[in-house]
Amino acid sequence: MSEAKRLAAEKAMDHVEDGMIVGVGTGSTVAYFIEALGRDPGRIKGAVSSSEQSTERLKAHGIEILDLNSAGELSLYVDGADECDPHKRLIKGGGAALTREKIIAEASQRFICIIDPSKQVDVLGKFPLPVEVIPMARSLVAREILAMTGGQPVFRMNAQDKAVITDNGNVILDIHHLAILDPVAVEAAINQIPGVVSVGLFARRPADVVIVGGEPPRVL
Ligand code: A5P
Repeated sequence: MSEAKRLAAEKAMDHVEDGMIVGVGTGSTVAYFIEALGRDPGRIKGAVSSSEQSTERLKAHGIEILDLNSAGELSLYVDGADECDPHKRLIKGGGAALTREKIIAEASQRFICIIDPSKQVDVLGKFPLPVEVIPMARSLVAREILAMTGGQPVFRMNAQDKAVITDNGNVILDIHHLAILDPVAVEAAINQIPGVVSVGLFARRPADVVIVGGEPPRVL
């Protein structure tokens, strides 16, 4: 799928204009986009980054990192997704960067989502839904989500069996076995639980354009 990811990322360059500040997401598809930006790093004014991982990649390609508070509203945000439905609603957060991704998506006029074809689904929820949680609320939030959705919350661990800690110092619950028929309602309901920082459902603010990598890429 990496070739499809690369083709989607290259196509997103059509939306990049000279002198822009670009919001940049996180993940392996975005890594190709950063590579493409890095071919001419002086072309854009800089990037607002959604994670430490992307910040390092951007800096390595000579792209200046800007703070969202100073940048203000962004005209363009480019990011990947873990799932995408026909309404351009997404599950994101497989890379644990969902909160900053959500902030940048909200701050951007246009959100271009770059995916390979395996990410397209009719109904969101086969990919476990990531929820970023304040550490002391982990069990409370897990119980409430189980009662509310019937989904099975799993505390995200890394390969060393340690809790995954987000760039914001929080933990992640991945909610398995969901079929999310009303993504806007589920997003709102999970957001209401005390201790939830954000949920990786991008339904209230979906993508504006989805680029599915292939030969040629499809622009939805
Ligand atoms: C990062 O937290 C995620 O939202 C990514 O956008 C998502 O996991 C897609 O990642 P890949 O591009 O690596 O598939």
